[in-house]
Amino acid sequence: MIVCVCNNISDREIRQAVDLGLSSMDELRSDLGVATCCGKCADYAEQVFNEHVERTSTTTTVTELSFRPSQVA
Ligand code: FES
Repeated sequence: MIVCVCNNISDREIRQAVDLGLSSMDELRSDLGVATCCGKCADYAEQVFNEHVERTSTTTTVTELSFRPSQVA
């Protein structure tokens, strides 16, 4: 869905930007151009941004794997 009509930016693009490392609305504004024209999208863009940051920050990161020792026949 298009979030920022002025700049044709979708919710998917906002989520992808978060996945690529953007960490604030200021970065979204400067890198994607969200909310830089009329500004009517700012509240919803921030909601999409915050929901995705929250969702991805609760993801467990695997830093070590443990395997069973291989069985010798
Ligand atoms: S709709 Fe995003 S700046 Fe206008």
